[in-house]
This record gives sequence, C-alpha cells and structure tokens, in this order.
Amino acid sequence: MTRAGGEGVASGKVILLGEHSVVYGHPAIAAGLPRGASARAVPSADRTVLAVEPWGVEVSPDPAADKSLTRALAAMVEAAGWKDTVRVDARVDLPGGSGLGSSAALGVAVMRAVDDLLGIQRSDAEALEVSLAWERVFHGNPSGVDNAMAIAGGLAWYVRGQPIERIRGRAPLTLVIGDSGEPCSTMITVGDVARQHAADPERMGKQFEAIASIVRNGRLAIERGDLVSLGQLFDMNHALLAGMLISTGTLEEMIAAARNAGALGAKLTGGGGGGCMIALTDGGESAARVKGAIEALGKRAFVATIGSIDSESGDLA
Ligand code: PMV
Repeated sequence: MTRAGGEGVASGKVILLGEHSVVYGHPAIAAGLPRGASARAVPSADRTVLAVEPWGVEVSPDPAADKSLTRALAAMVEAAGWKDTVRVDARVDLPGGSGLGSSAALGVAVMRAVDDLLGIQRSDAEALEVSLAWERVFHGNPSGVDNAMAIAGGLAWYVRGQPIERIRGRAPLTLVIGDSGEPCSTMITVGDVARQHAADPERMGKQFEAIASIVRNGRLAIERGDLVSLGQLFDMNHALLAGMLISTGTLEEMIAAARNAGALGAKLTGGGGGGCMIALTDGGESAARVKGAIEALGKRAFVATIGSIDSESGDLA
C-alpha cells in the first residue's frame, strides 16, 4: 500500500582493515559512521525524480545516460522492481569520493525511502542486492562492504558474498578521520590493483594473504581490547597498501603527522588514491592532539568513537 511519504537513512563507513583484498574474497573489518545519508520519498504523477543535496543535482532514471547518478537510479529502479513513479529528496552528510562510502549510503537511503513509501519490506540480503545494482554503476566491481555497512552499521567482519558478522570490541575505538581533500575514485584504484593482480597474480596473492592475516589479528586485538597491537596492525596494513601504489604524498604526510602526534597507528581507508586516512588513538587528549596535527596541515579532521561521534570535533560534510 502506498503511503503519503517514505523515509530512509543509512550509515557511511570506515574500513579499519582489509580494503582492496576484500574485493578478492578476503575479510575486512569496517565500522558504520553515525552520519551518512537520508531521503524522503513521495508519490510523483508522471516520472521518477531524485534530487540530492548538497550536490544540487536532480536526475530521472536513464540506463544510457552519461551521468553515473542517472544510471545508478535506473539500475536501482530495475533491481527493486518499483512500478510507481516517485520523487525522492535526499541529503548526503559525507564528502563524496573520500572513501567513507557516500555513494552506498545514498543508495541505501533512497532504497529505504521508496520501499517505505510503497510498503515494500526486504531482508538484508535482498536490500544488499538492490543497493549493489546502484553501487556497481559507481564502482564497477564492488565487494559489497560499503553497502553491507550502510545497511547494518555497527562494527563488523565482512567477507564478500556472506552476511556480515558483528564484532564486539572490549574497548571503545577512538579514531581520528582526516580528509585529504583529494577526490579518490575507488573504480580507478580497484582497477589499478586488478592490473597489478593480472600482471603478477602470485605476488599480489601473497600481499592479499598478508593483509588477511593482519585483518584476522585485528579482530582478535579488537576483541581483547588490545589497542597497541591494533595500532601496529593499522601501520602494517598501510605499508602493504602503499606498496600497491594507492597512497598519495598528502595521505603519507597526514599519516606521518598523526603518528608523530602519538597515534597508535594510522592508515589510508577505503579506495585510496586520495580520500581519507584514519588514525587509532587512546581517546581524549591523544585524539585531540592527532586531530590538531592533521588540521595543522590544512586538512579537515574529526573524531569518531566507534558507536558514537564527537559532534563538536569537526564538520565533515
Ligand atoms: O572507497 P570506498 O569507501 O568505496 O571503499 C572501497 C573499498 C574497496 O575495498 C577498495 C573496494 C570494495 O569494493 O571493497
């Protein structure tokens, strides 16, 4: 039954450990952010329209259009099986192209708002399939981690094609997230890594294995509340990602500044090639010092405690 209006919200995410290797079937650990995207859907007499703020864009579904958002909407309408035309007004509260899962959060918020309007209920697995149709337009070959986290939030273990597993940490994780301001295209860096893999599958396979064992040890460290070991694992994971040439000079500078300011470990997060880095801290003053060190480089930073966010510590959007 169609209602007067439908609402949808979804989380952004940070990948703590395991980006890129997750595309090849290895595990990753990710955490939902309390901010992400929201949407409101209402019936529309003639055609389906999606308006997104603060981007100031408005699109209608067209599978042959140049604009990715237009094609993504067409893919979602098709995968969701929506027969009615709707108007969706959405808002993204994350910087786009920064490795924080903004496109997946937007897709899930839109899907939830329209489903709510049309009275459609889906299992998490069905919701993942519908939102992956959208995400493939932006990312080509997404592992699904962004979408699974947009749907579920929280702290989770993710393996491609499997339902997420919740992780229970013994100690809160206080992260500083720094935005390099350099846009990253996950599609491009995933393609770079795929080329390296095609050229030397054995060497890249070993790198992915090494990252997978870092991720497994990271889970144990989180479950034991061993932040010092987790920080070291952040550093090791970053070294392997940098070896795949997907870090940048700016990210390296920010990571070094975070470590010098007392972070327990720091790494790029998400696709790389720009976007965001994360630093693990002891919380409190140590997080403020690391945040200050990143801001001293002229970059935006905010503190996120897994499970809650320090809203006074920086406006990311
Ligand atoms: O850049 P983001 O936030 O979309 O993160 C992408 C994570 C990758 O592992 C690089 C790609 C993927 O699909 O998992």
